[in-house]
Amino acid sequence: MKEILVFAGSTSRNSINKKLVSFTASLVEYGSITLLDLNDFDMPLYSIDREKQNGIPEPAHQFKAEIKKAQGIIMSLAEHNGSYTAAFKNVYDWVSRIQGNMWEDKPILLMSTAPGGRGGKSVLQAAKSRLPFQGGKVVATFSLPNFKENFSQEQGIINDEILAELKEKVSLFQDSL
Ligand SMILES: Cc1cc2nc3c(=O)[nH]c(=O)nc-3n(C[C@H](O)[C@H](O)[C@H](O)COP(=O)(O)O)c2cc1C
Repeated sequence: MKEILVFAGSTSRNSINKKLVSFTASLVEYGSITLLDLNDFDMPLYSIDREKQNGIPEPAHQFKAEIKKAQGIIMSLAEHNGSYTAAFKNVYDWVSRIQGNMWEDKPILLMSTAPGGRGGKSVLQAAKSRLPFQGGKVVATFSLPNFKENFSQEQGIINDEILAELKEKVSLFQDSL
C-alpha cells in the first residue's frame, strides 16, 4: 500500500486549507493516508544561533521521518501576505536543515485555497518554484478560489468544473506514485 502524507500549511483550528486537503485525500482511490497537523510540530522560531546551541528540535526529525515514510505528498498551503504562513515556513526551515534534499524526490500534489478570488496563487507559485530545489517533484498544482462559495462542509467542492479539475490532478498524482 502506498503511503501518502497529507497536511495543510496552517495552524488554524478552522483551516480552510485543512478542509480542502482532507477532502482531496478522500478522493484518493488507493493508498494509505497520514494526515498531519502542523500544530503537532511546534518549534522555536528558526535561527542559526538556536540551531548551533540546541541542535535541530525533535519535531523537525519527526516531520522528516513522515516525509521519508511516504511515497507521495499532498499539501495545501495557506497564504499570509502573499507567501507561506510563519508556521509552515518554520517547519520548512528546520526540516531543510536536516538534509538538503528535504522532499526526497517524492511526487507532490501542491495546493492552496483562500477566501479571495486568487485562491492563494502567490504562495502556490512560491512553493512551486522553491520545492524542486529541495527534491520536491511537483506533479500537479491546484488552487481553489473563493473557498466559501466553492466548498461546503458536507459535500466538499460544489462547483462541478472545479471538482473535475481537482479529480484530474489527483489522478495525475496517483499515477506518479
Ligand atoms: C496575516 C494574514 C495575512 C493574509 N494574507 C493573505 C494574502 O496575502 N492572500 C490571501 O489570499 N489571503 C490572505 N489572508 C487570508 C487567508 O487566506 C485566510 O485567513 C485563510 O483562511 C488562511 O487559510 P487557513 O484557513 O487554511 O489558515 C491573510 C490572513 C492573515 C491572518
